[in-house]
Amino acid sequence: MDTQNLIEVAKEARKLSYSPYSHFAVGAAVLCSDGSVYPGANIENASYPLSMCAERNAVYNAYMDEKTKDDITAICIIADSDRPCSPCGACRQVLSELIPEDALIIMANLKGDKIETTIKDLLPYAFQGDDL
Ligand code: THU
Repeated sequence: MDTQNLIEVAKEARKLSYSPYSHFAVGAAVLCSDGSVYPGANIENASYPLSMCAERNAVYNAYMDEKTKDDITAICIIADSDRPCSPCGACRQVLSELIPEDALIIMANLKGDKIETTIKDLLPYAFQGDDL
């Protein structure tokens, strides 16, 4: 699957967002080396902090299908934002543990803008299990 197809999966996943409080729908999709793809969308709650971001749901979706860190090659995050949708700080921390440091992260928006990066660049000096 190429980058554009992964963006399309994330865009479709975004339609499943449950975001009645922020009205900010986010979609995500994780690509694995065997070609499997795992969608995610943000799911909010009236108790706001219990809400879950799209990219975390996508990564957890992959893990729930027995994928592990080294299986993941790319993740796309997309929203109807002016700039390509950037993963929040909490998601960066989770991604730093659950995806490879050089996995492709595609930040995208509905206008077709995109930025390609890695978690190594988004969260340098991440706190890690080794630090405990
Ligand atoms: N959100 C995501 O799902 N991913 C991000 O990277 C940024 C923020 C969600 C959380 C919340 O449901 C809504 O967007 C507004 O913050």
